[in-house]
Amino acid sequence: MPRSDISGFYRLSPEERLKLVKEFAGLDDAEVELLQRSGGLSLQQADRMIENVIGITSFPVGIATNFLINGRDYLIPMVIEEPSVVAAASNAAKMARVRGGFQTESTLPVMIGQIQLVDVEDPVVAKEKIIRERGRILAKANEQDPVLVKLGGGAVGLDVRVLSSRTGPMVIIHLLVDVRDAMGANVINTMCEAVAPMIEEITGGRVFLRIVSNLAVHRLARARAVFAKEALGGEEVVDGILKAYEFAAADPFRCATHNKGIMNGVIAVALATLNDTRALEAGAHAYAAMGGGYRPLSHWSRTPEGDLAGSIELPVAVGVIGGATAVHPIAKICRKILGMPSARQLGEIMAAVGLANNLAAMRALATEGIQAGHLKLHAKNIAVTAGAEGEFIDIVARRMIEEKKVSYDRAVAILKELKSQS
Ligand code: MEV
Repeated sequence: MPRSDISGFYRLSPEERLKLVKEFAGLDDAEVELLQRSGGLSLQQADRMIENVIGITSFPVGIATNFLINGRDYLIPMVIEEPSVVAAASNAAKMARVRGGFQTESTLPVMIGQIQLVDVEDPVVAKEKIIRERGRILAKANEQDPVLVKLGGGAVGLDVRVLSSRTGPMVIIHLLVDVRDAMGANVINTMCEAVAPMIEEITGGRVFLRIVSNLAVHRLARARAVFAKEALGGEEVVDGILKAYEFAAADPFRCATHNKGIMNGVIAVALATLNDTRALEAGAHAYAAMGGGYRPLSHWSRTPEGDLAGSIELPVAVGVIGGATAVHPIAKICRKILGMPSARQLGEIMAAVGLANNLAAMRALATEGIQAGHLKLHAKNIAVTAGAEGEFIDIVARRMIEEKKVSYDRAVAILKELKSQS
């Protein structure tokens, strides 16, 4: 297996980088061409994806290098509009390599479908009746997707609760479904709708909602890594990162941003593979709020050797088959770059990337501040906005960084000066 710690990757041109990725992932010429043809999606494909299509937009696909996950090298495709995120993930992954990279694991891909039952005479009796008929309900659910069952998945469990609400008690049934390599929302919703009449017949009540829950507490991915204190920049940096972490653990205002930094990585991989980013965000933040307060999704501590140990656990409702993931040509190529992971493996990769981005953000915040990293690309963008083209972009950007004054006005002034000299 080729290595992902390709030195100087960022200094190459997009074409040179793509050549390396082609070799790494065994992409064919048609796939390379698709990646170069911005977006990869045809208007016809787009028109089949959502309603009332009038066009297509596009985002950059970046590659995070250096990832070593469970002893295997990965180049990680990340789709994101924000500068620094890809570089941050690559840098953190490089630091993680010193102590063996990331270790990951995950639970079975079990999702929850919710069925809301109301108007029952006695909710506790209704609950008991549903539990008694568990086998029949699960069998009915599994009739909806014999292929899934054949693949080893399908409805595997039933949880029933009596929920008190402002409109009185309701019985909430959770249908637990192992969705294998799918994201799972479709199969869950189909199964919930199919078993609803049976639940009404069993209880004499009325079913209202039948829908997947995005709080996928049974479908968790975990990642951990140790970052050597020397790689991070010494003991003081470890101290600073731990202070940053404790801030997030103690304060929801900071914690929201801390978790946002994690989701920078998670969502960039989700977008590259065209997964449902809203489902992931909803699940992650709801999971962070379980048990009362809103908590960091990651945990950080000092090892006895003085290194920094990090871990993360979050729900990852992601799929590698079905839906848009199967249609979008770039998503398919991104999955190939990732080595065609299963849904579970993809979730684990996302957890590792999320942890990497979290580490990189805390390290930057605890040392030079976040703006220094952002500044380089930001300065280039400002230079372009001010009208710089070709080699002038880099020259204007570099001058502004040297002067520690990155602004539109300054870019215009430098550009004017350069043009008057040439
Ligand atoms: C920016 O996209 C993400 C950060 O704000 C995360 C954090 O503060 O931990 C840098």
